[in-house]
Amino acid sequence: MTTYGDALSAFITQTFASEDDTLARIREQVQARGLPTITVKPEEGRFLQVLVAACRPKVAIEIGTLGGYSGTWIARGLPAGGRLITLELDPMRAEIAREHFRLAGVEDRVEIRVGNAHNLLLELSDNGPFDFVFIDAEKEGNPAYLEWTLDHLRPGGVLAVHNAFRKGAILDLDNRDPAVLATRELNQRVAENPRLISTIFPAGDGMTIGVLQEQ
Ligand code: SAH
Ligand code: DHB
Ligand code: MG
Repeated sequence: MTTYGDALSAFITQTFASEDDTLARIREQVQARGLPTITVKPEEGRFLQVLVAACRPKVAIEIGTLGGYSGTWIARGLPAGGRLITLELDPMRAEIAREHFRLAGVEDRVEIRVGNAHNLLLELSDNGPFDFVFIDAEKEGNPAYLEWTLDHLRPGGVLAVHNAFRKGAILDLDNRDPAVLATRELNQRVAENPRLISTIFPAGDGMTIGVLQEQ
């Protein structure tokens, strides 16, 4: 579900977010190697890159690497010396992502950590604060991921969460699916948090974004 039609969505992608050969190859390989085809859309990847270019992270965090498609968009938006730490539960997916970061020539900027992100984030806590956090793993974890992010983002830092709409399911209040409940809860908490200036970017499956203000 988007607020505009497929033709306008295609216009954005063609005009602002066309994939180069590398990104197209990574998307194809995600499918060819049997990974779920749930990478962000090109216009969502481009939006992440725009956010990163605006907040210029020294360290960006991604929760949910999959095949490295969104990570490549993010890595390409980093300033000189900036790094991406991306977290992935599945070692096989992490290995494929590692190949893809190499293919994209961003392997020197990207560190993949393998394990349950909830544990990996605890280990990362002392290395913060961080400048950019992209949340795109299991949706039931989103409230906990949001709490960690609010504790570890610097003022001016940016939070982005994929799948804000769950394909429209968040509007159906009879839908009690745990992933939908968690998405609804995350959107509500972000919207109500006075320390965040926030909205949803309505392309693709929706991206909840927030910019952290001074205390
Ligand atoms: N951001 C990626 C897509 C991520 S799909 C892109 O757009 O290219 C979600 C990923 O989160 C999956 O690869 C899944 O294995 C991973 N994941 C699920 N639960 C996780 C957890 N608890 N910790 C770390 N990664 C997790
Ligand atoms: C699905 C899509 C996603 O982008 C994601 O991060 C997780 C799941 C899905 O369609 O099931
Ligand atoms: Mg997603």
